[in-house]
Amino acid sequence: MPASPTASLPSLGQAILDRADQLARHSDMEGGLTCAYLTPAHRAAQALLAEWMAAAGMDVRVDAIGNVIGRYAAAAEAGPGARVLMTGSHFDTVRNGGRYDGRLGILLPIAVVDALHRAGIRLPYHFEVVAFAEEEGLRFKTSFLASSVLAGRFDPALLERRDTAGISLGEALAGSGLPGGGAAAALAAAAVDPASLLGFIEVHIEQGPVLLHHGLPLGVVTQIAGSSRFQVRVGGTASHAGTTPMNLRADAAAAAAEMVLLVEARCGEVASLVGTVGQLEVPNGSSNVIPGACHFSMDIRAGEDGIREAAIADILAGIERIAARRGVSAQVERVTPVNNAPCARWLMDQFATVLAKRGLQAFELPSGAGHDAMMMQRITDIAMLFVRCGNGGISHNPLETITAEDAQLAAEVLVDFLRHFQPRQDA
Ligand code: GLV
Ligand code: MN
Ligand code: MN
Repeated sequence: MPASPTASLPSLGQAILDRADQLARHSDMEGGLTCAYLTPAHRAAQALLAEWMAAAGMDVRVDAIGNVIGRYAAAAEAGPGARVLMTGSHFDTVRNGGRYDGRLGILLPIAVVDALHRAGIRLPYHFEVVAFAEEEGLRFKTSFLASSVLAGRFDPALLERRDTAGISLGEALAGSGLPGGGAAAALAAAAVDPASLLGFIEVHIEQGPVLLHHGLPLGVVTQIAGSSRFQVRVGGTASHAGTTPMNLRADAAAAAAEMVLLVEARCGEVASLVGTVGQLEVPNGSSNVIPGACHFSMDIRAGEDGIREAAIADILAGIERIAARRGVSAQVERVTPVNNAPCARWLMDQFATVLAKRGLQAFELPSGAGHDAMMMQRITDIAMLFVRCGNGGISHNPLETITAEDAQLAAEVLVDFLRHFQPRQDA
């Protein structure tokens, strides 16, 4: 075995960053990066990723939801029963997002496979890199579409869900040219066989300030916080802003404002709990009309499922109380609740060993952000490697950044991890 396939490629980190820049040129917006599921920009990014996987020596397939899956086939000695170690992350983005969220976890393993391939190194197992097509929930307001298909957890009722232009997920898939044309059976058939998997690992930008604060380039994730998202529709009475006395109004926006403050107050009560209203609108509002409707999103997360569920129960009861007192209606739709996902100690330990060999601290931290690994944890053991986020740890923002040095180090750690990887003994 050559000593280090990355030693000959000291600019791997910079190459990863360059590719993130190249990928970010495909955007739904001018002057920033938005890559929503199945838009032309998304399809272009998907094609580019497939091209890079193929050039790195992988066999590439695209599944029924649009995931691009590259397989770096096992060494011949592994035989026909070789199993799969899977990695990957998402290439869709939030609106005006950063270029590393998700994408780092695709570009980095592609670069690693490329280095292994060039060095003539095959692994004793298949290594698959998945570019997940949808994780953020931007277009259909439901996240983890792509990983839920791969994990065999896709809910076919979601095919009816519509984007803001009125196009359903089923229609978008039917017109996409993806295999299966959006048929529920094809989406079910795209599930991976859990018995074929050795585990799932995900490299991701931390999206927070903890590693930066500790002066550490990399961290090992202990668990991923569970999350619940909701869409709330408050209905009031639209009427004249000049003639309707303040005590005779059913103002949907004022009621929503009180509900937003309730989310903030309740989620501020427990340290590990967070709650966010990221979307808030008065549909067809006018400055001289009392809002007859107000729609908003709620995103509630906690490291412990019980803490999240207790907060949700309180908030939903509070929303009802506010609506009743103000004479408005409130419809609450729950979307994609995902439970807390613990990482597997045996995989975390293997990352820790690799880090220790390089003299690096195996710093452990939980993830407050959601990741594709959460869905994969339903069918296999998972681990995550976090890479330090610059600019104060800002993410879901164009200011999100990492350094080439940290990307290089993460790539080298991944190479070592893959070359020394030991399957779980009882698996
Ligand atoms: C994904 O980025 C999420 O945590 O919402
Ligand atoms: Mn994200
Ligand atoms: Mn992400």
